[in-house]
Order: sequence, then C-alpha cells, then structure tokens
Amino acid sequence: SVEMGWQRTAYHFQPEKNWMNGRQQTSLLGPLFHERWYHLFYQQNPDSAVWGNITWGHAVSADLVHWLYLPLAMQPDSWFDWNGVWTGSATLLPDGQIVILYTGDTDDHVQVQNLAYPANLSDPLLLDWVKYAGNPVMTPPKFIALKDFRDPTTAWLGPDGLWRVAFGSKINKTGIALVYTTTNFTTFELLDGFLHEVPTTGMWECVDFYPISTLGYEGLDTSANGPGIKHVLKASFDDDRHDYYAIGTYDLFNNTWTPDDPEEDVGFKLRVDYGKYYASKTFYDQNKGRRILWGWIGETDSEAADLQQGWASVQSIPRIVIYDNKTGTNIIQWPIVEIECLRLNSTEFEDVELEPGSVVELDIGKSTQLDIVAEFKIESEALEATLEADVSYNCSGSSGSAQRGSLGPFGLQVLANENLTEQTPFYFYIAKASEGTYTSFFCSDQTRYASC
Ligand code: FRU
Repeated sequence: SVEMGWQRTAYHFQPEKNWMNGRQQTSLLGPLFHERWYHLFYQQNPDSAVWGNITWGHAVSADLVHWLYLPLAMQPDSWFDWNGVWTGSATLLPDGQIVILYTGDTDDHVQVQNLAYPANLSDPLLLDWVKYAGNPVMTPPKFIALKDFRDPTTAWLGPDGLWRVAFGSKINKTGIALVYTTTNFTTFELLDGFLHEVPTTGMWECVDFYPISTLGYEGLDTSANGPGIKHVLKASFDDDRHDYYAIGTYDLFNNTWTPDDPEEDVGFKLRVDYGKYYASKTFYDQNKGRRILWGWIGETDSEAADLQQGWASVQSIPRIVIYDNKTGTNIIQWPIVEIECLRLNSTEFEDVELEPGSVVELDIGKSTQLDIVAEFKIESEALEATLEADVSYNCSGSSGSAQRGSLGPFGLQVLANENLTEQTPFYFYIAKASEGTYTSFFCSDQTRYASC
C-alpha cells in the first residue's frame, strides 16, 4: 500500500483540495481577450472532501493541461441556490457575450434554473460573476417532481432565431429530455413533448446533446445542423451511475431526436466510457475546431479514506470526439494532443510476444504515473483459428479479464502488486460471429482494483 495523503495526479485536473464532482466549461476566444484561456468550472465543496455545500470552482488554462486555480466563481448565497450551485453550461453568444445557465437547489430544496454572466467581459480571467436579479428563470414544470429538473445544456440556435436548451428529468421510471426556447435567456418557453424518452432508465442527469459530422473529423459548433450532420444524445443515469449515448437524427421543428437504430437507444448499449466515469459533457473548442469531452472520475474507496487524503475525484483527460463511420453507431474518442507535452521520457518495448495464458512483465523502473501507448498485432493465422466466441460479450456484464475467449483476452495489467492479487487490467476481447465477422471490445476490469 502507498501512503495516499500526499499523492496527487499529474495528468488529470483536480482542485487544490477537497471534493469535486461534475463540471461545466467553455472555451473562449475573441477580440475581447488579450490572451486565450480555456475556463473550467467545477462542482466543489470548498470545506470538505465529501459532497455538500456545492460551489463553482474556477480554473483557467491555455492548453487544457496546465491549470491556474482562480477564486471560487459562484457560491450558494441566494435563496435560489441556497443549497447548492449545481451543474450548468455556458453559451457563447454571436456578439461575444457569455451566458451561463445553472441549476440552483433553493432554500426549499427545489431545483430551479438560474442565469449568470461575467461582470466584466474585458477581464480575460472572468473573475467576477453576476447572478441575474430576476432568478430563477425557470421552475420545474407541473408534470415533473420538484427535485427532478436539472443540468441545463449549452444552448443552440435554430434557424427560427430561437435558442434552445435541454434538461434531464424523469416521469415515474422513464428518463426524459425536455427542451425550452428563449431569445433573451431571461424568459423561457417549454416546447411540447420530449426531445426523447426511454422507459425504465430513471433520472437523466447532465444531458449532453451535440452535432457530429459524418463527413469529416472537424468538430461542430453546438448550433450546427444540416446535411452530413447527426446528433449525439448522452444522459448520465442516476440509478446506475453510468453515461450512455446513442447517435440519431434531430428534427428541430418537431422537437424530437430519434436514434438511428432503435435497438441501440440511449441506455441500451453504448456507454461513453467503461471505467469509473460519470457526468460527462462536451464543448466546442472554436479555437481549434474540435469537440472536447470531459468526464468526472469519482472515487472507489470510502469517504473516510477521502477525508483522510483531503481530496476526492479527478476530471478525465479531455478527449476529442468524432463520428465512427465504420460502425455508424459509435463515437471515437482520443486524448487531446496537448497531453503529450507531459511526456518527460519514455521506455519502449518492441516485439513483445504474448503466448496464451502468459503474463509478461515490462520493466518501467519506478513510476506512479504513466501515459501508455500500446499497439497489439494479431497473427492472421491466430485470428483465422479463432473459434466462435461470445458475441454477446460486454465489458460490464461479463466476468472481466478472467473470462477466456479463444483469443485472449489480452491487454495490460496496470497498478498490479507483485503476486497479482490486486490489479487493474485494461484488455481487448475479440469475439467472432458464425458469419466470420469480428467484434472487439476494449474494457477495464474493476473487479480486482488496487484499493490501497
Ligand atoms: C451529477 C449531479 C448533477 C447535479 C450535480 C450536483 O453528478 O448530481 O445532476 O447538478 O451533480 O452536485
């Protein structure tokens, strides 16, 4: 076991101390700014390493890797957010203004939506935020519970001149996404029907809704729509604490999103990530023309351990998101290229041969933080000899890396102790269907986590 108290991450964002959960962010670039800064706002408890007293922490970065901590951006100090300044999203308006919509947990524990904006747009650090005097700007509609109305998305603009913003909620056990329209961000109108609903999925948190290009790799502004564009709908399921998504078609005028394949609807199949990961959201980086995804990586140990170490949770490394035109149903994610600036030195291993059932140790010397690039090559004869394996395999439902297929699974065991009783395998599982097609799964096995 390692003494955890002083352990900090070098790759992932984390606050100086105490609790952190989801985040909301915007990247800003404009003639107003002397320098370009990415702004990151995150859910923080400034007083303790457990959830509570939720406040907006604030940090800026020029490269999404090195961060400068700034004073808290917004604190729970008004009746409309007395019990917490919860998740929200920023929208950059065409005239350079910035608006933030966020959920406030009121003095009565009702979830309402509030508007905030920078006090001084010419301050590149955007240190001061003003909460609109007319808050809240939205209260829960009659047909949903007072505690089931949260996490506004970044707004997108329709050809009719109306901005739209989506929320997650539920009705009984059906998870839903609602859409409101606005022209001024102070008055809002609820659109009829739901953008989407999926029975039995429970409360949807941190809904994310964004366009993705089917024709190229460039990211799209949140308002982009038209030919060659599909829409990703993502929801964080409060009941099972995972992020699910599907790709589909957005009909703006009828306010509906339909999954391309109903069998792959949100929650049926695809998770954004198969590790410890929740409340993810994307934003459009207009500076570099890419869409960037962040997720919140919570703790797997106890609250007592978190209190002892003085901090809890990290943000994932930001990843770009593009459309996978091979499957047509998936997104592809890749760590932003800037992260490579943290590579101080490297050890390379080539032509490492993996025999069935073998464990090969790679001597990397002493290190607690690694950035691994691995390439696996399967001999074509081995692939041909593969027997029909379990094509219904899935990363979360199966028995992890211990479930043998006819080819592997194979991958890397990280954070392993000497006798391998504690290990965190990242592995591939390849399944061959009777028609001879292959499906590969890339999973992490959390059943034997190194827990310290
Ligand atoms: C996600 C979430 C959001 C909420 C916030 C409160 O984990 O529960 O739904 O806005 O965290 O901190």
